Amino acid sequence: MKARRFAKLGLAAWIGALALTGCTAAVSSPAPSPSTSASAPSPTRTPTPTATSPSPSQKPTTAEPTTIEPSTTAPTTTAPPVAPLPPASSVDCTVEQCVALTFDDGPGPYTDKLLDELATRDVHATFFVVGKNIEARGKTVKREIAEGHVVGNHSWDHADLSKLSWQGVAQEIDSTNTALTNLGLPLPLLVRPPYGAQNPEVMAALKARGQIGTFWSIDTEDWKNRDVAQTTARALQARRGSILLMHDIQPTTVDAIPGIIDGLRQKGFTLVTVPELIGPHPETIIGMQMYSQYNVR
Ligand code: NI
Repeated sequence: MKARRFAKLGLAAWIGALALTGCTAAVSSPAPSPSTSASAPSPTRTPTPTATSPSPSQKPTTAEPTTIEPSTTAPTTTAPPVAPLPPASSVDCTVEQCVALTFDDGPGPYTDKLLDELATRDVHATFFVVGKNIEARGKTVKREIAEGHVVGNHSWDHADLSKLSWQGVAQEIDSTNTALTNLGLPLPLLVRPPYGAQNPEVMAALKARGQIGTFWSIDTEDWKNRDVAQTTARALQARRGSILLMHDIQPTTVDAIPGIIDGLRQKGFTLVTVPELIGPHPETIIGMQMYSQYNVR
């Protein structure tokens, strides 16, 4: 009797909890496929086909109305396309000691060599690309995605977004987003504002596009020291959950990478992409600033 009563109470409590958490419970149910998780219920995530979109398809691949060059006719008044959520990862950074390697300002002449080094060591990284570099090295950016890396947006021409008008910010972000989608690549979930310079308007622009502001907790200063030993020493200061800032346009950084990877692994770290560091619910930090796994605000 007693046991049955407790069971009933337990069931009632469970139903109550389910009702209270509402959509959280729905979101936390295991997603069977990436396409299902991309259409997870979210008020900002409903696909909004605009009047200017000539294609009935949800995926803007070839039939993009805008060009790579920032255009004055860009539909800035309509709601921008929203970034899809990434597929689920097998890495659990609540269990593993994760560190994310990130590379900015490419693609450049040394990026393919870096991709070779990463492939040899089976490491996936996150690349924040500058939009104007994409056209000349589209193959490299496609390779990044094809080999399991994550590509984020680092503005069109490395502008300080905090000094631009609302329209200027939109143009810097949207032109790079479009350059990537024109290559058949996904609209990036992550944006790293150049110099880490942001303000409420910049963050609002990212939020409107379903994107996450991605910063860093360890600056290797590779662009300044241009020295393998110094870059390596700074990278090895990483702690659990760190996001490391590096630049794939620096040849010394590419030379430092084998030692950095080996050193971090010796310290027990698992090297992951930023979405892996975020974990299974990136939708909860859209429009926020992420500095590390444990510092998101
Ligand atoms: Ni940069």
